Amino acid sequence: MPPLIDPVGSCSVTLNNLDIHATRQIGKHLGNTLAAGSVLLLEGELGSGKTTLVQAIGSGLKISEPIDSPTFTLVNEYFGGRLPLYHMDLYRLQPQAVAQLYPDIYWDGVEVEPGIVAIEWAERLPYRPSNYLLIQLCSNDNQHQISLIPVGNFKMPAIDKQF
Ligand SMILES: Nc1ncnc2c1ncn2[C@@H]1O[C@H](COP(=O)(O)OP(=O)(O)OP(=O)(O)O)[C@@H](O)[C@H]1O
Ligand SMILES: [Mg+2]
Repeated sequence: MPPLIDPVGSCSVTLNNLDIHATRQIGKHLGNTLAAGSVLLLEGELGSGKTTLVQAIGSGLKISEPIDSPTFTLVNEYFGGRLPLYHMDLYRLQPQAVAQLYPDIYWDGVEVEPGIVAIEWAERLPYRPSNYLLIQLCSNDNQHQISLIPVGNFKMPAIDKQF
């Protein structure tokens, strides 16, 4: 396995030309390594791979339950893995429903067990936590790209540039 690059402090990483296998490997790696309380804000157009990445994060957390975007609930909670995974998808929500979501309950981890909070369509959040990993996904002609951008004091995990 090639050496891991350990981005220091606020350095961001962009991974290009990702096939589905590489996207899943990145997700698994994040699921293996992220600390409790990590907030992942996923941005990117329809079909850019947000759910695919969250599913792989669940696999890295060793969650065996199938992970699907929440449709009838505001948040799907998975407790079977290394840490809880709280998965939200703001796409189908009206702004009013987004305002009633109180996502800080999940990222503050006061009323819930601290875990990984993954929010698809984070562009629609009315407010954000102080520290989070912004994940921007992009796909063009089936070429997938993922940028990992730490915001605030978010501690970036070591990322293998060869993904
Ligand atoms: N390299 C890749 N990375 C991610 N997804 C890929 C890749 N190559 C092909 N795909 C396919 O692209 C699709 C991505 O869909 P996915 O549901 O993950 O996107 P999404 O961003 O969550 O979309 P939505 O905005 O509708 O929720 C899947 O069918 C997946 O199999
Ligand atoms: Mg999705």
